[in-house]
Amino acid sequence: MRQISPAGSVRGSVLLPGDKSISHRFGMLASICEGPSKIRNYSSGADPQSTLDCMKALGVPITRSGSEVTIEGQGLDGLRAPAAPLDAGNSGSTIRMLAGLLAGQPFSTEIFGDESLSRRPMQRVMAPLGLMGARIDARDGKYPPVRIQGVAAGERLRAIDYEPPMASAQVKTCVLFAGLFAEGETRVHEPVRTRDHSEIALRELGAELTVRNRVISMQGRPKLTGRDLFVPGDLSSAAFFLVAALVARESKLLLTGVGLNPTRAGLIDFLMGLGARIKVLNVAEENGELVGELQVEHSDLKPGVLEGAMTAAVIDEIPVLAVMGALGGGLSVKDAGELRVKETDRIATVAENLRRMGGEIDVHETGFVVPGGQKLKGAEVDSFTDHRIAMAFAVAGLSASGETTIANAEAASVSFPEFYDTLRQITA
Ligand code: S3P
Repeated sequence: MRQISPAGSVRGSVLLPGDKSISHRFGMLASICEGPSKIRNYSSGADPQSTLDCMKALGVPITRSGSEVTIEGQGLDGLRAPAAPLDAGNSGSTIRMLAGLLAGQPFSTEIFGDESLSRRPMQRVMAPLGLMGARIDARDGKYPPVRIQGVAAGERLRAIDYEPPMASAQVKTCVLFAGLFAEGETRVHEPVRTRDHSEIALRELGAELTVRNRVISMQGRPKLTGRDLFVPGDLSSAAFFLVAALVARESKLLLTGVGLNPTRAGLIDFLMGLGARIKVLNVAEENGELVGELQVEHSDLKPGVLEGAMTAAVIDEIPVLAVMGALGGGLSVKDAGELRVKETDRIATVAENLRRMGGEIDVHETGFVVPGGQKLKGAEVDSFTDHRIAMAFAVAGLSASGETTIANAEAASVSFPEFYDTLRQITA
């Protein structure tokens, strides 16, 4: 349980944890590089730690001191059969991306997760891995635990040309990671462009990969070489503070070291389009990823519509954008069926909590409509063990009348253990 008091304005500067998506990719890829990698600003979240724990269980020497992680890469053929099933915790990225790496191994593995992960669909990765020749099985054919029987001695995965039926960077990454172990060229045709951290990381580490019109082509069996890597701050974590500042009068925040990869920064464009006063400052490049500062001030926001490619680009930020819609100019979300299969059914959990706070929301199968200009009342809300729901409703609590309590608030540590401390600093 966490109590959130109304705050008036938020002011000051915020340092974010390393990006969760990039941390997973660096953790997995550095493990199959030749030689060591030192990763700075690795995410402090529990999910990226699940990835490191899985890689350790696969025989990779990994040491961690705070946000600095050193990985002794074992080369493309250096992973070892784990002594026990691998635990992905709450992390969909870990189980789906790692399934790609494991499909190419000459040994069998099983990956399981917590209660939430055990309800999330895995066919989306089982289908392409099956086409590549991997023998892969799951509970009821679709849920974790997932069992992956590696390739037979002397055999290799087949390179495929694959068009995922949904917009998913995890599925794209799974296919590319399996493609590392296949002979020849693996191709993924994306229906909608999704975050391209895997493409950037693979290229940085030495893979031969090209991208043209949403088609990614990569040669199998590359020589990947370990190196020093830096993880930018997590823009999806920044979103909670951007919204907190936008909706509360007299607020002004500076967010430093934020990842601004164009396939993620649709959020900034969307907010600016609604009239958000956000300045992007001091942009630089690190390991192929853009990093910069964001200065944000309270703004009068227009009504917003999220649909198509923009929905996909901001999919993780939608819970807090719903809160922003209610307190600001309103928000209509379309084409967001993927929200139903995240850590919780986020359409349902957003609606439940907004209603508990006296808010209004109209829900449909693949989205919702939140009228603007609402006054929210402090209430008991629940994260339902979903990190982004916990943090979105902590932000709602700052601008509500009266106290808000969040049940299962500790879920925030899945991506952002320092979240409540940071919130306290900017409201002090
Ligand atoms: C992620 C991709 C998205 C996102 C998740 C992280 C990634 O999932 O929701 O938090 O790092 O590739 P999907 O691939 O299921 O859309």
